[in-house]
Formats: sequence, C-alpha cells, structure tokens
Amino acid sequence: MPNRQVIVLGLESSCDETAAAVVTGDKRILANVVRSQNDAHAPFGGVVPEIAARAHVTEMDRLIDQAMTEAGVSYGELSGVAATAGPGLIGGVLVGLMTAKAIASVAGVPLIGVNHLEGHALTARLTDDVDFPYLLLLVSGGHSQLLIVEGVGRYRRLGTTIDDAVGEAFDKTAKMLGLGFPGGPAVERAAKAGDAARFAFPRPMKGREGCNFSFSGLKTAVRQAREKLGDMATDQDIADLAAGFQAAAVDSLMDRVAHAMEIFTERHGAGGALVVAGGVAANQYLKTSLTALSEARGVRLVVPPPRLCTDNGAMIAWAGVERLNAGYSDPLDLAAKARWPLDPDAEPAPFAGYKA
Ligand code: KG4
Ligand code: ZN
Repeated sequence: MPNRQVIVLGLESSCDETAAAVVTGDKRILANVVRSQNDAHAPFGGVVPEIAARAHVTEMDRLIDQAMTEAGVSYGELSGVAATAGPGLIGGVLVGLMTAKAIASVAGVPLIGVNHLEGHALTARLTDDVDFPYLLLLVSGGHSQLLIVEGVGRYRRLGTTIDDAVGEAFDKTAKMLGLGFPGGPAVERAAKAGDAARFAFPRPMKGREGCNFSFSGLKTAVRQAREKLGDMATDQDIADLAAGFQAAAVDSLMDRVAHAMEIFTERHGAGGALVVAGGVAANQYLKTSLTALSEARGVRLVVPPPRLCTDNGAMIAWAGVERLNAGYSDPLDLAAKARWPLDPDAEPAPFAGYKA
C-alpha cells in the first residue's frame, strides 16, 4: 500500500522541457507545471543543448515556486525532493539535480536521483493500477526501448534502437517534409490526408529475431522519395509521404512489440499488461494499432494521458515516491549521468549513444 503521508517534489530538465510537480503517495498530482522550450529550438529544427541548459536555468526556480504554491505545500512538509539525474543532455540534467540538492539540503529532506526512463516506466502505476511485472514500450525523441519492468529499479531490456529513436525519426521526417518542429504531431496531422500505400517504404527489422529497432534506413528512404519529387511536390505528395512513413514506422514497432509479448509470456505467463510511455505514445495511429495487437493477444493496454507520457515533473515525483517507499534515497554528492541504462546487464547497442 502506498504511504498516505508521502509528498514528493519532482524536477525534470533532461531535454527540452523544464518541469516541476508535487505528487503524493496516494497518487494525487497536487501540481504539475511544464514549460516547453519548443519555440526556442524550432528555428534549428531540433533541440540545441546549450539553449536548453540556459532555458532550464532561467525557468526552474519560477516553476518550482509555482508548483509548490499550487500544491499548497511547504518545503518542510515534503518527504523528499526527486530530480532526473540522467540520462539526457548533461547541462540540463545538472540544473534540475543541483536545484534539488539545494532544496533537499536546506529543507533537510532526502534527495532522490531518478533515472528519467524509470520516470516514464513507472508513470502507469500513478495513473492506473498496474502490478509488476509488465511490458513497457518506451518511445520518445531520445529513446526507443522494450523492457520488462519487474519492480522499482529492476528492469530487463529486451530491445533498443541501433540508430535513431522513433520520435527522432518523426522529427527528422517532419524537417525533410517542411512540416516544422516538434515533428511527431505535424507528421501525424499531415498523414491524415495521405495515402499510406503510395510509397512502399521499408519496415525496418520486421521479421528479424529479437526486439531491437532501427529507423535510419526508413528515414533515408523517405528522403530519397522526397528528393525525387523535387520542387514540384504538392501538399498531397507531402501528405502521402507522411502517411507512408508513419505506417512503416508503426508497422515496424508492431513487429517488435509482438516479439516482446512472446518473450514476456515465456517468462511470466500469458496476459499481463503492455504499458506505453514517451512522447510518441500520443500518436493516435500507434495507439489504434497497439489496441488491435493487445486485444488479439489478450494483453491489457495501458497508455497514460499525453501530458504524462511526454516529459513532465509528475513522473519524476512519482518515481521518487516509489523509490522512497522501496527504501531508496541518495547522498547529496550524487553525480549526474549523461548515459544511464535502466538494465545495466543489457548489451550496449551499436551506434545508439545515450538512446541505449
Ligand atoms: O517524451 P518526449 O516528450 O521527450 C523525450 O524524452 O524525447 O517525446 C518527444 C517526442 C518527439 O520526438 C515528438 O516528435 C514525439 O515525441 N511525438 C510524437 C507525437 N507527439 C510527440 N510522435 C508521433 N506522433 C505524435 N502525435
Ligand atoms: Zn522522456
């Protein structure tokens, strides 16, 4: 049973959202404020680390103040302060972690360094009653992974991307098609008017063993098709390219998830839950495809609402609650980590960088 007295402040600053939230042990989100930096990065068509870090410095104090005021909680009432300690853009991670250390030290409460991916992984237990173990599909701008979540701090990675993350592929496709940033929502919107069958794009990794992902070949295929159309490309051409890309990316994801479901069943028996997390979980076409697959396999599908799937402070605060309940906290000299795999025993994927 969650402890009713637990109240945790959670800070997130590992990518391009600055966020602060206050969450209780009995699953109430007392405040959840997020400041997206989309406008600052849009002219560059992607996240610029230096701009991100500076924006976190400017925004973090004000957001914490706003979250604590909205929650009606004083620093002395906190059971702990949680902050993303990695993985991510190190300049940004440092901003949240150093701020959390200062608050923990002044308020005399425990510091909890949270793995950003664990934040995504445990969100479904905040929004829905999901018991361990469950299967997790984590699809964001920085990560594409399939994991079995066995418990707090206990993860078995089944697959990861060997090149681009799926959200990154959406963003790059949007850039190639002139659809703006962030690309995921723009590609999904354009795809609605498109014919997914017009371009026969590859389904990367489909039919292959294991659960790894790859999206760079698909990205190249889209680029070549776009170049072939030249300057005369119409809105319909762009919509068809967007629809073709989305169908291929989701088809590839479905194949990988189906494999992961088989592995989960071998290890833990039939049924269980598939939890989806990360910004790409907002994609309606992905959700429809996952619903069909889950129903066919007798698996419960849990997709938290988009505001809790994209980067936010509530997921970090909740991971802090779970870690405190499990007896974990961290010393004030905890180091920030640019790379921090959830499953330290998993083999590093070639070319994946921090996405592994
Ligand atoms: O989890 P998130 O907010 O940040 C990261 O940790 O990366 O995910 C952002 C990613 C971006 O790549 C964005 O394009 C993608 O999620 N995304 C989508 C959609 N909404 C956001 N991708 C596809 N369809 C969407 N509707
Ligand atoms: Zn994330």
